[in-house]
Amino acid sequence: MRKYHPKQEEETVMKKIVVLTGAGISAESGMATFRGAGGLWNNYPVEQVATPEGYRRNPGLVIRFYNELRRQLQDIQPNGAHLMLAELERRCGGNMTVVTQNVDDLHERAGSRHVIHLHGELLKVTSSRDPNNPACIRTLKPGEYEVKMGDRAADGSQLRPFIVWFGEPVPLIEQAIEEASRADIFIIIGTSLAVYPAAGLLQYVPAGAEVYLIDPEEVAVPSGRPVRFIRKGATEGMKELMNLLTAQKICS
Ligand code: OAD
Repeated sequence: MRKYHPKQEEETVMKKIVVLTGAGISAESGMATFRGAGGLWNNYPVEQVATPEGYRRNPGLVIRFYNELRRQLQDIQPNGAHLMLAELERRCGGNMTVVTQNVDDLHERAGSRHVIHLHGELLKVTSSRDPNNPACIRTLKPGEYEVKMGDRAADGSQLRPFIVWFGEPVPLIEQAIEEASRADIFIIIGTSLAVYPAAGLLQYVPAGAEVYLIDPEEVAVPSGRPVRFIRKGATEGMKELMNLLTAQKICS
């Protein structure tokens, strides 16, 4: 849907922008990606630290793993790509949503206001018994980042990371589909598109929408949907995209 920004004399085309991000955007801040060389899953088998079965088998190991990620998060900052996305949201008058598979808070720290965390949030904890019980989900204060065995959620069960593990439902996917289905522009940054349902969001993007993909590596796009591929790292790729959108007077 096109509307014209009332305040500006030159025609600025206001479009709904939806962005799907993955580990690649945070890689430039120093967070490890999951797959590929140096990927987290090479050092920590995914079935041990990112499945409910792994957690049942060895909760202490899983809690320590996420404590370590939380500690790393304190030492890193949002990068240029996060900052440019926040800038784009401001330019669009807020008509933009970031759907992220990342559990870090770098989009929020960069200034993005509309962020959907499909796979949970590292700075939140919840109940082991009923992870999606809103009464048990809470944000940790900086002094609490080191979760211990014996720390309790509101329902008395062991406090666990608020992370969507493999095999668990993805409660926010419906909201993400709703956003994707209203996109005029869909931007994909730094994801291998290997994990569903996130990778399937593209199929809900309207046929007339423009799709951009930023990644330094080749990415197999499900459904073969044509995309404008910017084969660069997140920050360099975002600079190129910002120039393209500005040239088209989109949200400028
Ligand atoms: P992956 O590790 O699968 O993919 C990271 C992508 O980032 C790859 O396509 C890389 O080429 C790309 N990349 C690397 N460096 C980059 C850079 N500087 N700029 C831009 N892109 C770069 O990570 P995800 O696709 O995010 O789920 O993984 C999806 C989900 O799988 C994660 O949320 C996690 C994982 O298992 C759960 O934990 C449930």
